[in-house]
Amino acid sequence: MDILVIGSGGREYSIGYALKSDESVDKIYFAPGNGATSDLGENIAIKDYEELATFAKENSIDLTIVGPEDPLVGGIVDIFKEHDLTIFGPSKAAAQLEGSKVFMKNALKKYGVPTAKYIETNSLDEATKFINSLNEPIVVKADGLCAGKGVIIAKSKEEAIETVSDMLSGKSFGEAGKQVIVEEFLDGYELSVFAICDGKDYVVLPAAQDHKRLLDGDEGPNTGGMGAYAPTPLVDEQLYSKIEDRVIKPTLKGLDSDGMPFTGVLFIGVMVVNGEPIILEYNVRFGDPECEELMALIESPVSDLFFKAATGDLKNLNIKFSNKYAVGVVIASKNYPYSSSEPAEIIIDEIHHEDLQENSYIAYAGVSRDSDGVLLATGGRVLVCVGLGDSIKEARDRAYMLTGQIHFIGKKCRMDIAYQALKD
Ligand code: AMP
Ligand code: GLY
Repeated sequence: MDILVIGSGGREYSIGYALKSDESVDKIYFAPGNGATSDLGENIAIKDYEELATFAKENSIDLTIVGPEDPLVGGIVDIFKEHDLTIFGPSKAAAQLEGSKVFMKNALKKYGVPTAKYIETNSLDEATKFINSLNEPIVVKADGLCAGKGVIIAKSKEEAIETVSDMLSGKSFGEAGKQVIVEEFLDGYELSVFAICDGKDYVVLPAAQDHKRLLDGDEGPNTGGMGAYAPTPLVDEQLYSKIEDRVIKPTLKGLDSDGMPFTGVLFIGVMVVNGEPIILEYNVRFGDPECEELMALIESPVSDLFFKAATGDLKNLNIKFSNKYAVGVVIASKNYPYSSSEPAEIIIDEIHHEDLQENSYIAYAGVSRDSDGVLLATGGRVLVCVGLGDSIKEARDRAYMLTGQIHFIGKKCRMDIAYQALKD
């Protein structure tokens, strides 16, 4: 099977890395890929979705897997399907679950999925009235895609009103902020739950926990995610069942009956409040860095999972998960997440411990190669060190051992990934 992976991050690298050891996969292409995906397959410098579909046709690609949200929200799946190509990801209509927070909140309400109390509005007066009815802190969200920055947790009512006013005027997020959500603050712990869906059926992957803040102890600004681990012991069978019955099943049924069956990854941002799952948001793709750990925990061929989901055949899937744990530590560049950083050469020490060789890998993200083929850290999140182990602690220790083998100027990472699972 020849596979095209759309995207260029650590998430797409990890999908490629899992496909590489899959016996039924022949050739892997990445569009556009990064400076390390070229070690797994071939990078293709095509951006336009029609042109990508033509490339897929001409090269007899059997399956296309879409990593990031932008092409999904932009309708790449619909274009590929018009060309009779097999593609894993939701249609443009279903991708609105991530493309528009207003669409997502209204869908949650319509399908009866538990979520924070909210209003959607483009009126400052209406927002102010609602803000005055809530306790602090108060959450304000821009409607459209804002690269993970469109959520503000306001400490006071005044700050919430000011935030809404800045968003509605277009000052903070342009068009994406001209419609806003104001909602109650939920106090609990967060989980990332991923359901692979084929329109009707689904498979739930081991629940993960991300670390969104830049600094240890969940301090500092929000980032795309500084590390993750799975499975998390913060979910038991009872919580999984609640998430399936109250969240996944009604959402898939509702979207199907509204004429937009969901195929792809339903990424459920869950806040667990007093043991009950309340939904913060949906995304329509894998989390990054959660994908990097989850790919390492799937023992059966991943091509089979993606292909069966894309062709409505999940009921015939036999998926096998490893009984290990995976911990991923993001190594970012010096100025992340504030600004870009100077490219810096990455030096990786040779790994002598067999134990580490067999139970870890690097998922490359913000990397490129110079004209001599030297691997450079080009900024942002540079790579993820993933460790596997029989316990979270063992997996964590291996992930950190791997971070010690990697050197570039300005390298930084959190030192407390998985702390919530390792307390006491
Ligand atoms: P979102 O993009 O909606 O997931 O929001 C980004 C982050 O903001 C989430 O991962 C949470 O940490 C936080 N957040 C969003 N909504 C709420 C809420 N209603 N209560 C508490 N925290 C929230
Ligand atoms: N790790 C969270 C995200 O990808 O949105």
